[in-house]
Amino acid sequence: MAMSERRFLFLVASARREGNTETLARKAAASLPSDVKRQWIHLDETPLPRFEDIRHHGGKNNQYPDPEGNERLLLDETLSATDIVFVTPLYWYSLPSSAKLYMDYWSAWLRVPGVDFKKQMAGKKMWAVCVLADEDPKRAELLLTTLRHSAEYMGMEWGGELIGNGSKPGDVLNDTRAMEAAEHFFVSSSVPAGTRFIVGSSQFRKLLLRSLCGSLLKSGSTLSANSTVRA
Ligand SMILES: Cc1cc2nc3c(=O)[nH]c(=O)nc-3n(C[C@H](O)[C@H](O)[C@H](O)COP(=O)(O)O)c2cc1C
Repeated sequence: MAMSERRFLFLVASARREGNTETLARKAAASLPSDVKRQWIHLDETPLPRFEDIRHHGGKNNQYPDPEGNERLLLDETLSATDIVFVTPLYWYSLPSSAKLYMDYWSAWLRVPGVDFKKQMAGKKMWAVCVLADEDPKRAELLLTTLRHSAEYMGMEWGGELIGNGSKPGDVLNDTRAMEAAEHFFVSSSVPAGTRFIVGSSQFRKLLLRSLCGSLLKSGSTLSANSTVRA
């Protein structure tokens, strides 16, 4: 799909305004071509009611009702997007509760008559922009695994992850590797799988070599099509 036809939904899960994660994500978004549509939603300011699991209620009682209010807004924006970007700090090695609650609602939307949620989500791209206070980016692995597995379950593609470091607002501006990586984060997705950018890694050279052999990739090389931008 041409870049100009894409629509990015940025779901900001920080429990404060103008935090590091949004700063990093806005830097990445700034590199998108100006005609790419984008929508920013702060999940804390778009609250959802408590999620109820009614999947195994009898009869027709296991059908979730037509969404209303914020739920409707989030469903409509999710369906309209081609790219869903989780703009999420690391909270206790995992997703903030607002992002998790939003994802719990996917389980409801799978069961809203007439929505065909899974079919509509298939082929969309999921991305993660994450900031954590810990200097070891591997501490975000659980959060990333949650998102990657969920994308896979929904038949979505994994766009990649952009990880920054910071504690108080503005700290991430000092993470020069993350800020620089942000400039290429979304744009590099338009190059073929396997040529994505890995910061400071000899894997980058391997990827480059292998990307020259496109057929190798298509025939099931062990290389991930969704390589990582990790700062
Ligand atoms: C509830 C809570 C839990 C946190 N848990 C972690 C954690 O597990 N690991 C970590 O490195 N930082 C943790 N942090 C620090 C945040 O990830 C860090 O301050 C980040 O910059 C916040 O993002 P924001 O500025 O976009 O709000 C936590 C912060 C909060 C408020």
